[in-house]
Amino acid sequence: DLMNKIHIVSNRLPISIKQDDDHFSFTPSVGGLATGMRSIYKDFGGQWIGWSGIPSDDLEPQQIAQIDEKLTDERCQAVHLSAEEINLYYEGFSNDVIWPLFHYFTQHIEYNPDYWEAYQAVNRKFADKVVAVANPGDTIWVHDYQLLLVPQMIREKLPDVTIGFFLHIPFPSFEVFRILPWRKELIEGMLGADLLGFHTYDYERHFFSSVRRLLGYEVSFNQIHLENRIVLGDAFPMGIDYAKFKGKASEVFRKSLPEKSELHKELEKYFLMAPDRKLILSIDRLDYTKGIPNRIRAFEYFLEKYPEYRNRVTLIMLVVPSRAEVEQYKLLKSEIDELVGRINGRFGRINYTPIWYFYRSLPFENLIELYSSCDVALVTPVRDGMNLVAKEYIASRINQTGVMVISEMAGVAKELGEAIIINPNNEPEIAEALHQALNMPLEEQRERMATLQQRISRYDVFKWASEFVESLKKVQTLQQNFL
Ligand code: UDP
Ligand code: G6P
Repeated sequence: DLMNKIHIVSNRLPISIKQDDDHFSFTPSVGGLATGMRSIYKDFGGQWIGWSGIPSDDLEPQQIAQIDEKLTDERCQAVHLSAEEINLYYEGFSNDVIWPLFHYFTQHIEYNPDYWEAYQAVNRKFADKVVAVANPGDTIWVHDYQLLLVPQMIREKLPDVTIGFFLHIPFPSFEVFRILPWRKELIEGMLGADLLGFHTYDYERHFFSSVRRLLGYEVSFNQIHLENRIVLGDAFPMGIDYAKFKGKASEVFRKSLPEKSELHKELEKYFLMAPDRKLILSIDRLDYTKGIPNRIRAFEYFLEKYPEYRNRVTLIMLVVPSRAEVEQYKLLKSEIDELVGRINGRFGRINYTPIWYFYRSLPFENLIELYSSCDVALVTPVRDGMNLVAKEYIASRINQTGVMVISEMAGVAKELGEAIIINPNNEPEIAEALHQALNMPLEEQRERMATLQQRISRYDVFKWASEFVESLKKVQTLQQNFL
């Protein structure tokens, strides 16, 4: 049965390994793919194949064995990469070519042929690992932009498996995608799958149009007709483990003061000092797609235009370190540091700091405390495949208050009609949205939040995965009729 063995393949495993001197620590990986898939992969009966997170060239064989053993316990199989492979394939082609291209940051692309060579070689390594792990009849579910060539590479070696692929980031318009010298090869690699999933219908449409224009295949409805096969494309907006967030939020809510974490106590103290105070929250990886500078400037504009909110409104900004070896990410880090410094310098008082800025990742419980303590979530990416943080905020609002401000450039905006939707490049509009959010009557907040919660809880990550797997079964039937 298809449900029996599904193997997951992605660049990042659900656990990341860090090396401190001679001992290893294992921490949960950050990012939408890892947090979403973590809740479901063990039900699939297969393995999760991915990169261990550290360079393997300096490791002793017994250290590698130690890592592999720990990962095997978690039903994970590591693909080990050298420092050079990480540099060229991960930081290079994945995050200095595809990531900026697919998010419409074409000015950031490094057209380096060495990156492309390494990308092919490392994709081949992942495919070989799949071949070693999978059996005929298994299903392989490949994830995201780091592994676009893997579906084709698996198909060449394992004709008897079913292959699904899901893209966790946007697929850009053909006019942007065509910029890439290796555009045809990437599409061909993806078409090795039987089913291709995207977060939104728009991304799916963009992909189909690239297939038509670059390879000339006929696409009717959501079926692509290759010479000897049919490939299906469809939209599956990824959900979250709703029950897990709601459950933890209720647990945190019920705790008595002495049981609460330090962070939670501090948050409550903030409100005790003046009951009409408000907190605005943003959480994202440090990434130029997330619109962090425009968010800070919009908050500055808000404090300028509505001086009555100075001393009363604080923006909590949790920025999680990400891809720090890539030049554009370093530049962004300095820009954010400077902007935060400027605003705190300008509007700060002895007992008022406009922006509480944390550059680190936080444990799950603290994330929930932030989600459930903040009156407004301000999510302003300039481009984002989905944005699960927005859904997590909604799931954590157990008393159904709170206002969501969301960028129309995030895939998630399509599902959040009751949120306040903004254009992330329009700073005055963001400031107005904040004003509206901070003044929204409780009754209206509850009405909007209840509808959002209903929608997000219904299509959770389990539903998302089972719909994807169901479509894979449909594709199998389709293929059999085709032959
Ligand atoms: N997250 C985390 N630790 C943190 C902050 C965030 O694990 O300290 C998680 C967060 O809960 C969410 C994910 O990282 O599930 C971010 O996913 P999203 O889709 O919003 O953006 P991405 O990082 O995938 O671009
Ligand atoms: C996004 C990508 C994921 C990636 C995550 C974290 O969510 O879609 O594939 O794992 O960011 O980025 P990192 O480079 O640390 O894996």
